Amino acid sequence: MSEIWTEKYRPKEFSEVKGQDEIVSKVKSFVEKGNMPHLMFAGPAGTGKSSLSLAIVRQLYKEKWRENYLELNASDERGIDVVRQKVKDFARTKSMSENFKIIFLDEADALTREAQQALRRTMENFTKTCRFILSCNYSSKVIEPIQSRCVVFRFQRLDKKAAFEILRHIVEKESLQADEKSLEALYNVSEGDCRRMINILQACSNATEITEDRIYSVVKSAQPSEVRSVLNLALSGNFIQSREKLLDLMLQQSLSGLDLVKAIQKEIPNLEAEEKIKLKLIEKCGEMEFRLVEGSDEFIQLEALLASFVLAGLKGK
Ligand SMILES: Nc1ncnc2c1ncn2[C@@H]1O[C@H](COP(=O)(O)OP(=O)(O)OP(=O)(O)O)[C@@H](O)[C@H]1O
Ligand SMILES: [Mg+2]
Repeated sequence: MSEIWTEKYRPKEFSEVKGQDEIVSKVKSFVEKGNMPHLMFAGPAGTGKSSLSLAIVRQLYKEKWRENYLELNASDERGIDVVRQKVKDFARTKSMSENFKIIFLDEADALTREAQQALRRTMENFTKTCRFILSCNYSSKVIEPIQSRCVVFRFQRLDKKAAFEILRHIVEKESLQADEKSLEALYNVSEGDCRRMINILQACSNATEITEDRIYSVVKSAQPSEVRSVLNLALSGNFIQSREKLLDLMLQQSLSGLDLVKAIQKEIPNLEAEEKIKLKLIEKCGEMEFRLVEGSDEFIQLEALLASFVLAGLKGK
């Protein structure tokens, strides 16, 4: 239990990076040719950007990967000057065995435009000895001259198939038991962020049987089925009962108003109601979310939201 599972199960080979097949196969072919352009990995957190870089250097340099790989984080390195100095020191010595070394720069989109200009010059100066892999959440925040020097890959949130594959592997290795429903719940609460998904699984693993209930209680997220029943009560005109049930959810599971609005918004597409009504309700959720962020009273806002469900249900009849 002392080990963090996201590290324990971090992919070491290309085949272990799931759900990004096209990217992996292109990157693999660069590596097989022993020649690689600068790369940019763009996409949401926990989708395999750092992991794929690691797989690249392990494949390229085998047991010598550590001496040929420098990992920097643009946002903790206190400015571009530190980055440049580190890159210089690392790049100055040519790799003994290889044509080039690899520098991984995480959170490249956190650099200011000026810093990015400086980075661009650094990339040009060291192209002979180094390849850069830039990682970012939003490629649009990276200046055009840098983007045009890289082959850009866009990582997707993990789909269900990839997520289940990863989960089943860990469940088996850790001798846990998890049914379809609990895997489904893990996937739902983590929204395609694999780091989050594995962390939640680990947090639930103090007993060998992973259950849907435990997952939702660990992440303080309302069970979709309970939220659905609150909404169905409201849609069928039963305001008082739906309000009571919602209060229960809020108090017993200590969920915030904002958590609940998010959970409600997620469930709307699954309700049995006309499309037009659903759209109206989604719009309402957006409005409520804004009000809650601005600091409105949670109970009043949630009641108002339920009232709009009741009204929508009446109109539907
Ligand atoms: N595509 C994937 N296949 C298998 N495991 C994955 C994948 N993506 C993420 N993971 C798991 O999640 C952990 C975190 O992933 P990783 O560090 O690669 O994410 P990232 O895309 O770099 O995220 P961030 O933007 O937050 O840096 C990994 O250690 C691994 O266990
Ligand atoms: Mg990363």
